[in-house]
Amino acid sequence: MAAWAALLAVVLALSCARERRLLAADAAVGVNWGTLSSHRAPPAVVVDLLRANRIGKVKLFDADAGVLRALARSGIEVMVGLTNGELAGIAGSPAAADAWVAQNVSRYVGRGGGVDIRYIAVGNEPFLTSYQGQFLSYVIPAMTNIQQSLVKANLASYVKLVVPCNADAYEGAVPSQGVFRTELTQIMTQLAAYLSSNGAPFVVNIYPFLSLYQNSDFPEDYAFFEGSTHPLVDGSNVYYNAFDGNFDTLISALGKLGYGQLPIAIGEVGWPTQGAPSANLTAARAFNQGLINRIMSNKGTPLRPGVPPSDVYLFGHLDEEQKSVLPGNFERHWGIFSFDGQAKYPLNLGLGNRVLRNAKEVPYLPSRWCVANPAQSLDKASTHLKLACDMADCTTLYYGGSCNGIGEKGNVSFAFNSYYQMQKQDAKSCDFDGHGMITFLDPSMGECRFLVGIDDSKSSAAASCGHCCGVLCGVSIFTLWVFLYLRMMGSA
Ligand SMILES: *[C@@H]1O[C@H](CO)[C@@H](O)[C@H](O)[C@H]1NC(C)=O
Ligand SMILES: *[C@@H]1O[C@H](CO)[C@@H](O)[C@H](O)[C@H]1NC(C)=O
Ligand SMILES: *[C@@H]1O[C@H](CO)[C@@H](O)[C@H](O)[C@H]1NC(C)=O
Repeated sequence: MAAWAALLAVVLALSCARERRLLAADAAVGVNWGTLSSHRAPPAVVVDLLRANRIGKVKLFDADAGVLRALARSGIEVMVGLTNGELAGIAGSPAAADAWVAQNVSRYVGRGGGVDIRYIAVGNEPFLTSYQGQFLSYVIPAMTNIQQSLVKANLASYVKLVVPCNADAYEGAVPSQGVFRTELTQIMTQLAAYLSSNGAPFVVNIYPFLSLYQNSDFPEDYAFFEGSTHPLVDGSNVYYNAFDGNFDTLISALGKLGYGQLPIAIGEVGWPTQGAPSANLTAARAFNQGLINRIMSNKGTPLRPGVPPSDVYLFGHLDEEQKSVLPGNFERHWGIFSFDGQAKYPLNLGLGNRVLRNAKEVPYLPSRWCVANPAQSLDKASTHLKLACDMADCTTLYYGGSCNGIGEKGNVSFAFNSYYQMQKQDAKSCDFDGHGMITFLDPSMGECRFLVGIDDSKSSAAASCGHCCGVLCGVSIFTLWVFLYLRMMGSA
């Protein structure tokens, strides 16, 4: 009895300590873990990678069961996500919200589930201009329903709702003129009121890279943190980087609604490593390191001196080669790690390690590649190249990519291999009407890497057997009972 009471006291003391840390407004760097890839490392490998790099916060875009199970007992704080496609259903039905919370939150939080879910993102950039308002009317009703479900599940004081917004929700020629888009005024007022009364941050995604990419007259050095020859002067405030300027534009916009004091978290921020002229390793490293140093310095911004954002989630953790390339080829290259958890450049996350550590025990497929068969003409191969690239990722072949300039034959080989690995090295997928050929010699050239895929058969088998895997589950419950029994005997 006494032992349990002591344990409880320790747990309470620890949670109070955590509370105090939050009040001290230390920013913490986390990452976005997206899974739009056909070469997904097993979630357990990714969680080990997070832990090896001391990353304590992760933001997800959905509530994938395999990912959440792997995060159990990791000590990592998690933001799960309701997708935009789920908003209408949840907005229209309290029962659907209850089911969502039961299946995707309650089941994992507490009572041995062991996943430290802190936030639910209600939609992902649902107010984005290009969605033309299609999710606008669902966001607040969906929040209301999910909040009620959390109250019923007794989780409302622990799990908070947020809405990650794109920076296109507000505008202003200079930060002090920041204002939300007119059609968002009412919704933003409701959102800010909710966040304010629940102690949740306003979550915004800020991308200086996109400002630079989209505007030819954007001063390049203003996108980074090394000072700018084109500072932005706003009354008595001077801005030397786009991030600070954007952040303060949001503060002004919130201020006009009466919520200028709301804490702000950065839901996504980062820099891609290829797929556009300004997307390269040097620039990505300079931006991310500059950002982290800036956050860690606790300098804050002119409108919030000394107060950094509450949390900052880098985008992204791993490359996702199935993302849409509509915005540009760089979309598939945002990771600080490649798809298989290998660091792309040295980065000090400010969490204790001086550089990134690589993933270990990645279950690669065998060292085999598919290349152009030299006995066949290249002309005919090019139609196959197009088909392969429609399905698999060929973005590195283009201008600004690491495989641009490897020649026509190189192009064909790269495309064939990309498709072959995506098909998990199925021999038929390297046929291409006799134009393909399997090789055991790595065809990579210089910076241009011909990848070997990941064997995800084991992790997908585990994911498909639901909450508890037959025999395995029986065994672990048995072990638990033995453990508890021994504990009781010991303390008696
Ligand atoms: C839980 O989340 C998953 C993954 O995001 C989703 O597919 C599923 O529909 C959700 N469950 C419910 C009951 O809505
Ligand atoms: C990398 O991107 C930066 C930022 O746009 C640019 O200044 C630099 O020239 C690029 N480097 C290379 C090698 O392309
Ligand atoms: C290889 O493919 C890229 C992307 O389509 C193209 O820009 C390049 O010109 C191709 N190279 C040759 C030699 O065909």
